[in-house]
Amino acid sequence: MADAVSIFMSVGLSEQKAKETLKNEALSSTFKKAIEQAQGLLGSASIDKTAGTLLYNMVTRLKDYNRLSFLTKYIVTRKITSELQLSAALDFIKSHPQENMDRLEFEAACGVGVMVTPEQIEDVELIIRKHKDQLLAERYRFNMGILMGEARTALKWADGKMVKNEVDMQVLHFLGPKTEADLEKKPKRDRSNLEPKLFLHKIYFLFVGEANTEGKSLMEQLRGEALKFHKPGENYKTEGYVVTSNTMNLLKKHLEETGGQVRSRFPPEPNGILHIGHAKAINFNFGFAKANNGICFLRYDDTNPEKEEEKYFTAIKEMVEWLGYKPFSVTHASDHFQLLYDLAVDLICRGHAYMCHQRGEELKGHNIPPSPWRERPVEESLLLFDRMRKGMFAEGEVTLRMKMVMEDGKMDPVAYRIKYTPHHRTGDTWCIYPTYDYTHCLCDSIENITHSLCTKEFQSRRSSYFWLCNALDLYCPVQWEYGRLNLTYTVVSKRKIIKLVETGIVRDWDDPRLFTLTALRRRGFPSQAINNFCARVGVTVAQTTMEPHLLESCVREVLNDTAPRAMAILEPLKVTITNLPTNAQVNTCRIPDFPANEAKGSHVVPFSKTIFIEQSDFREVMEKGYKRLTPDQPVGLRHAGYVISVQRVIKDGCGKVCELEVTCASSDSVEKPKAFIHWVSDPLRCEVRLYERLFLHKNPEDPAEVPAGFLSDINPNSLTGIECALVDHSVGKAKVFDKFQFERVGYFSLDPDSTSEKLVFNRTVTLKEDPGKM
Ligand SMILES: *[C@@H]1O[C@H](CO)[C@@H](O)[C@H](O)[C@H]1NC(C)=O
Ligand SMILES: *[C@@H]1O[C@H](CO)[C@@H](O)[C@H](O)[C@H]1NC(C)=O
Ligand SMILES: *[C@@H]1O[C@H](CO)[C@@H](O)[C@H](O)[C@H]1NC(C)=O
Ligand SMILES: *[C@@H]1O[C@H](CO)[C@@H](O)[C@H](O)[C@H]1NC(C)=O
Repeated sequence: MADAVSIFMSVGLSEQKAKETLKNEALSSTFKKAIEQAQGLLGSASIDKTAGTLLYNMVTRLKDYNRLSFLTKYIVTRKITSELQLSAALDFIKSHPQENMDRLEFEAACGVGVMVTPEQIEDVELIIRKHKDQLLAERYRFNMGILMGEARTALKWADGKMVKNEVDMQVLHFLGPKTEADLEKKPKRDRSNLEPKLFLHKIYFLFVGEANTEGKSLMEQLRGEALKFHKPGENYKTEGYVVTSNTMNLLKKHLEETGGQVRSRFPPEPNGILHIGHAKAINFNFGFAKANNGICFLRYDDTNPEKEEEKYFTAIKEMVEWLGYKPFSVTHASDHFQLLYDLAVDLICRGHAYMCHQRGEELKGHNIPPSPWRERPVEESLLLFDRMRKGMFAEGEVTLRMKMVMEDGKMDPVAYRIKYTPHHRTGDTWCIYPTYDYTHCLCDSIENITHSLCTKEFQSRRSSYFWLCNALDLYCPVQWEYGRLNLTYTVVSKRKIIKLVETGIVRDWDDPRLFTLTALRRRGFPSQAINNFCARVGVTVAQTTMEPHLLESCVREVLNDTAPRAMAILEPLKVTITNLPTNAQVNTCRIPDFPANEAKGSHVVPFSKTIFIEQSDFREVMEKGYKRLTPDQPVGLRHAGYVISVQRVIKDGCGKVCELEVTCASSDSVEKPKAFIHWVSDPLRCEVRLYERLFLHKNPEDPAEVPAGFLSDINPNSLTGIECALVDHSVGKAKVFDKFQFERVGYFSLDPDSTSEKLVFNRTVTLKEDPGKM
């Protein structure tokens, strides 16, 4: 026995792998045979590790052992030197019985003797030229995977590393070294002379330049051919889509079922709260269906019973609806557990899946040798799968694996694993649960999805997606990827938010300083503003990282039209008007709700001899450039039609100004003052909360920026509470979440903490961009 272990190790297997291989008798005896044959051919030379690994991979995958010596010879004589060639060789052998196999045809199919010269590799230049416009526009944000993919197709048998080096080098040559802007991962802008007033235009400009969305609405961007997605039923026209002999037939049936309707789905895992990044996913999936008269499912990907909680299901649906979308139907992956199981049995029967006893640790990582159980008989796998389902194994003891190689070289992804955790919906009916790779494409297929839209991280799952549908001979939807949306100055991962809540830095998941969707709603962000933001970021394939102020400017834009004006004083200074005419008519004052459009209504506030202004709107000592009230400089009162002039400054015991006595004059009768300030009279008391960013740095998660971790980067002033602010009577009847523009102070939303005694307002955003403030 020990002998065999050392033989296996001598050709490059690890000790553990060697021992494991021994447990599989058929496999180890074939492997030994292959090694003997190889040794016979090599004479005194030894088998190197590359050949050893290829031999091992060959025996685990070869079905017809009569072909063993034939292939061994190709490996030993270095005619087959890569995994890619070996796969092609095995495929060829499988489809060509020994008796009518043409050697030349075989060698052509697996690239034997094909020498790819460095000059040929240099031809990747053609590929770069083909994409030059987009490359120039996106520079290093361009998805280099596209170039690599095309290069690999064009230079099928070339050494992958050499191709990669050449692509990298030529891109560098073409674009020049990365500039500071490239490193920032987004276009650099000059903010030094950004006039607040011009700001919105600049944003538009920026968005246009960046995503080429040209100020189009989301629906316009998503409609029709705008995205270059395939038409329903024309899946086969998509690059990379795999066509089998039955594809056209399945597509025809699919079209009969759906009548050519666009069908998409939003498939969140119900294990956390949605954040601003999800807003893009929701807008993309639901919006795409809506823009094309289609339907969109809300499908919970509830395949991990350990992580699911009722509250997440409810919260997700609520947020989808808040953003204005209605799912055609709410479904769950768990709705299909029985069907998925039946399909797994079918997959085993078709020889595309097997039961594997390797443990979690051994399945991790890439380029690990194939499982020794890969070629076990179908009957054996069926029996074991049945026992697995009946709970006859411990967690982690066995898995069902699919026989396929993923884009990134990972072999045989797991389809089913054991979990003895009751499921939120199916209780303890099942102790085996399907994985994402197994479930997702099948649920898409079952729901007759036409466009399976997902973020680019899933690009590497595309081939397994197509493979599985085809292996089961089912309708195969098309997966399309788009770039995810990130925001700076925040963290969105569930784990990190839990930390912030646990340490008391924020109150809960919906603390207004977070960028979860529930938090944004509490903070008073209108959903329309969030959707506008998504539209402006654009439906790009590129990843985008945005600064929060871009989102905030969308919020201002919506609230400018929807939040009526009111006046509030955060730090009051009492002002007594000594000469107010006693005429009753002037003791009230009419204020337009939207000064830009007076037709939208108005409200009346009292105006009496005692008013309050902001402490900061008075200075005892004049300073150059100060336009508001001083002992020598009058100031206008907004909406009141009066100009006031200081007569006497009254101070408290500590020398602090506590009251002003002023006289007033009608603004028609005096020189126009340099400024108008807001004020309140006979006000309501209220509490006001102001926010600044939660984090001091742009990328709190980046160790280069914040070495001690995101928890060390909290802005100590992220929340300011003002207990005794004053607000005018017009807000007295407001309901929770009603929003107002407090003149010159910001947009505010009435908080649920309000009582009949005391109103509580939280600031949604300031009126203008103010770095740091929110
Ligand atoms: C999907 O299409 C099949 C027929 O191809 C049909 O039986 C099934 O009901 C459809 N499912 C949904 C959710 O529309
Ligand atoms: C976006 O965020 C994800 C998760 O935090 C991160 O992995 C990714 O690198 C970020 N992308 C960019 C462009 O910053
Ligand atoms: C208002 O501020 C408090 C304190 O930060 C917070 O707990 C609450 O959620 C906020 N309300 C809204 C509507 O943002
Ligand atoms: C607010 O809206 C009015 C018209 O509705 C417009 O004239 C004004 O410029 C807007 N203000 C801002 C800051 O966008």
